[in-house]
Amino acid sequence: MHGNNAETPLWGLLDPGIRPAPYPHHRRLRESGPIHHDPMGAFLLTRHADCAALLRDPRFGHGKLVTARPDGSPQAQVGRPFLFLNPPRHTRLRHLVGKAFAPPAVAMLRPRIERLVAQLLDDAIALGEVDLISTFAYPLPMMMICDLLGVPTEDHGMLQQWSHDLAMAFDPDFDFLQPPDILVQRDRAWSAFAEYFLDLAERRRRRPQADLISQLTAVEEHGDILSQEELLNTCELLLVAGHETTVNLLGNGTLALLRHPDQLDLLRRDPRLAGNAVEELLRYDSPLQFIARTALTDAQFAGRYVLAGELVIALVAAANRDPEVFNDPDRLDLARSPGRHLGFGLGIHSCLGARLARLEGQIALTALASLPGLALAGEPVYRDNPVLRGPASLPVRLR
Ligand code: HEM
Repeated sequence: MHGNNAETPLWGLLDPGIRPAPYPHHRRLRESGPIHHDPMGAFLLTRHADCAALLRDPRFGHGKLVTARPDGSPQAQVGRPFLFLNPPRHTRLRHLVGKAFAPPAVAMLRPRIERLVAQLLDDAIALGEVDLISTFAYPLPMMMICDLLGVPTEDHGMLQQWSHDLAMAFDPDFDFLQPPDILVQRDRAWSAFAEYFLDLAERRRRRPQADLISQLTAVEEHGDILSQEELLNTCELLLVAGHETTVNLLGNGTLALLRHPDQLDLLRRDPRLAGNAVEELLRYDSPLQFIARTALTDAQFAGRYVLAGELVIALVAAANRDPEVFNDPDRLDLARSPGRHLGFGLGIHSCLGARLARLEGQIALTALASLPGLALAGEPVYRDNPVLRGPASLPVRLR
């Protein structure tokens, strides 16, 4: 289904057929209009200016299923990580975990990331030809977030499966679109995850260690503590957001470099380009393709009338190639300044882990680029996730 998808439910974005090369499809959507409407009660934004405005607009937030109480006050939102909550609950929870991602805390992680990158690459190089995702791009962010949280190494494999299942239907505002078996799988993963983390939190409460779970169980500011449910939802958010995205930066990023040998060579010759390279790769092939918000009130937006409860989706992967903002947007150019890309979102929900993600990306991609024998050994197969888009497998030769 590569024709005109603007009129189909959710504009063809859920179609696995577009996953290997979605950008011509996104361009057609952008060129056929800044905003599209789907009768299911959703709008799609394709231009940078509109996507940025949506993410900064307090009239749009989360909670399709949240209904007003008879007195007009909003129903308490429970059982959601703070990515899917509105102020003031979002503000409070983001603040409570924010310290762990502040510049000094992240800078301290550099030696650990460098060691892990070197160790994973040494093991992979010994094999010669590998799947880069399962040997490198997945384990690196997974080990980092598990370390940060305080999950023992022997449990990482279990968490990987839960994380995959939770990420398949992460945004509860999209539940109505999900096939029932995906929701059952997610809910099963959630029960196992909750049981595991409650037990781990209890062990850390009794015997704290230098990890985030110990901090979260002890966190108290002005008498404010995390409830058990908030603790679990926060751990779930950090686990899923912490690596289901970074794996795509490493997978999409390496693939883009391998398909543009001149750009790979630029990075190889000048590793100081790493900071810029990561931003350009986030722009060129965004790990998160689209971001959804719900209208919290009836609102005029981008020239349309949006009813309270309707979804508005920012197609950031299209916005990041909007020619109004980026010159020659379909060209990968590690030397450009892609500062305004929306790869980490914008506004109150902008990525809390961006510093960590950037550091992991810079160290990992520079190390990969430094391998003289790095080459594609086959075509990528894409993950089954339309939002968190990236290769599930990427065969490469490392020597
Ligand atoms: C939020 C992208 C890595 C933690 C977000 C958002 C985006 C994003 C686009 C905003 C979503 C929205 O507005 O609905 C990415 C990308 C990453 C990455 C592309 C890797 C390349 C990480 C890492 C962590 C993390 C490593 C933590 C360890 C979070 C959290 C939020 C978030 C906690 C929610 C912020 C809030 O609601 O206030 N991320 N992320 N992310 N990200 Fe990331």
